[in-house]
Amino acid sequence: MNQPKRYLITAALPYANGQKHIGHLAGAYLPADIYVRYLKAQKRDVVFVCGSDEHGTAIPIQATKEGTTPRAIIDKYHPLMEQNFKDLGIAFDIYHRTSDPLHHETAQAFFTQLNNQGDLEIKESEQYFDEEANSFLADRYIKGTCPNCGFDSAYGDQCERCGKSLSPDELINPVSTLSGKTPVKKNTRHWYLPLNRHEDFLRNWILKDHAQDWRSTVLGQCKSWIDGGLQPRAVTRDLDWGVKVPLPDAAGKVLYVWFDAPIGYISATKQWSLNTGKDWKPYWEDKDTKLVHFIGKDNIVFHCIIFPVMLKLHGNILPENVPANEFMNLEGDKMSTSRNWKLDMQDYITDFIQKENGGSQMADVLRYYLTQIAPETKDSEFTWKGFQDANNSELVSIFGNFVNRTFVLMHKLCQGKVPAYHTAVADELDTEVIAQIKQTAEKVSQLLEEYRFREALFEVINLARTGNQYMQKKEPWILVKSLTEKPELQKQIDNCLHICLQLTANLAILIHPFLPFTAAKMCHMMKVVDKMLDWENAGSMKLLSTGYTLRAPELLFRKIEDSEIMEQIEKLNAASLKKEEGSQSAAAAEQPAITVKPEIVFDDFAKIDLKVGKIVAAEKVEKADKLLKLSVDLGFETRTIVSGIAMHFKPEDIVGKQVTVVTNLAPRKMRGIESNGMILMAEDNGKLHFINPETDINPGSGVS
Ligand code: MF3
Ligand code: ZN
Repeated sequence: MNQPKRYLITAALPYANGQKHIGHLAGAYLPADIYVRYLKAQKRDVVFVCGSDEHGTAIPIQATKEGTTPRAIIDKYHPLMEQNFKDLGIAFDIYHRTSDPLHHETAQAFFTQLNNQGDLEIKESEQYFDEEANSFLADRYIKGTCPNCGFDSAYGDQCERCGKSLSPDELINPVSTLSGKTPVKKNTRHWYLPLNRHEDFLRNWILKDHAQDWRSTVLGQCKSWIDGGLQPRAVTRDLDWGVKVPLPDAAGKVLYVWFDAPIGYISATKQWSLNTGKDWKPYWEDKDTKLVHFIGKDNIVFHCIIFPVMLKLHGNILPENVPANEFMNLEGDKMSTSRNWKLDMQDYITDFIQKENGGSQMADVLRYYLTQIAPETKDSEFTWKGFQDANNSELVSIFGNFVNRTFVLMHKLCQGKVPAYHTAVADELDTEVIAQIKQTAEKVSQLLEEYRFREALFEVINLARTGNQYMQKKEPWILVKSLTEKPELQKQIDNCLHICLQLTANLAILIHPFLPFTAAKMCHMMKVVDKMLDWENAGSMKLLSTGYTLRAPELLFRKIEDSEIMEQIEKLNAASLKKEEGSQSAAAAEQPAITVKPEIVFDDFAKIDLKVGKIVAAEKVEKADKLLKLSVDLGFETRTIVSGIAMHFKPEDIVGKQVTVVTNLAPRKMRGIESNGMILMAEDNGKLHFINPETDINPGSGVS
């Protein structure tokens, strides 16, 4: 496709049934946002749509869990997700919702047109029915024993233990989750989309036309679907939550969520059109529009096979590309909401963004790391250590450091103004850097056009690295020392700072799609308006005019301490442990929730030095709501111990208490405070208790 007239970019509509985690963010929303920001910086005509997916059984199931109504669930999570995206700099042109009447009308009209055209088939089939609840059962409402692994609580669509996709018929001893009764089979009619009629179209369009430009992971999944034999897919369900089937003889039936949700992209575009007064139609009907769907790999079949067939039948354009991402794991394990092994967007925002003034730099840090490890070609892994490293050794040490040094030196050696560039004294080093700025701009463009975001980001950081090396070689801070004897050296100093400043301005342009908050801060420091960030300026050496005064530098990134990531790792472990204990006790209430550790020998135990101590002072640790800094009298000395008990005790209540201390634990820094030991605690039903002698005894007494 040549340069299209306009772009329509979509990111998968997230289910409004709970918090979304950073795996979702990295999978669809962040790459889509980067792409859109890049296109907009190119002044292309772009609309970026998303919204909440508010139908499907996921919503009423969550409602049952939370003891409320489906409506209350979507009204709770829709605004939350919208705000989360905003806080992380994901800038949709419209964030719509599928519960909106405009969407219901749009989806119904879509269905009606296909049905009138004869593009759907009606079939009768036997489905599970709950006689007590007087309702047909969606797959998720049926539980039974997994035929694959024997797990006794597998769902009708999938076994959560072994991961196998199932159909309700495969379950052994199926039970309705509505009533707990065994369901019966009952006849029902449904509308089907006969995918089998479209095999030739799909083969040609995907496996031929897009064999070169789609990701191989996406092509692979499509091929195996097509080769596996395409079947008619039911597009209606017996359910009372969703878009009603717009036919007189279809009471109690709604459109299948995967039929209505992608139509949500169209309704969102319509809503955008109502908001802006612009026409939505060309974005869905004119062949000169480039439609791109950003999704995670679990959505491939819907976006590459089912929805395109719907679009074709309905007379719409087809997606040009569907750059689906693989999954992102977390600390060595699959991210999972049910096992609580995840990092929610909201938790990151609370812990890193809201806690700090102007914390949006921390939004950029997350955007940076998630792009650096984007699962574009294979699954990737988020680790807190990797997060810390990406920040400390790249954003702080390379990017931030270069920008900061440039500003500091410009103020010191060039009176805070952009110095002139003296061509007469320019050397090879200078021209090389200038060439590299140009090349980087071109490379980044090309990589972004190809949806290769992690490589594009790498190029930008590499340019900052080049800047640092260049400055290191030029050493203007050394040249300045000989200025009195050799005043002509000022020209070389000028050239160095001139280039570093133009490079900084270029970095702002190039980093902007990835780290929008940082780019804005840089513009502020350079006293330039956002317009400078237009992509056509990338590669230019005339971004900052000679003689222009610039502001004092601001720190772009701060260091992330060990204690901060330790806290996150502990939090992750604690949350998943709690979940595990919760589900164990629910599943097998007779089993006491006691964890038994493997046997040790006496010598192992004897290595631990336990002593009785007395808390003589206690205070809160700043910016750490879980930590208390304690001074503990051990008889022979008073120790500082940082303890994670602030949620359980007030400092003033525990001064004077006796405690048992592990005194020979290696020191550990938490929030910059060295902790020398550990206080033993017993936990009972979430409540913490100190372990202390029955009467006050001498501090320092041994415990064995
Ligand atoms: N809600 C779905 C999910 O989270 C995605 C829907 S994408 C759409 O997996 F195209 F249907 F909107
Ligand atoms: Zn199983």
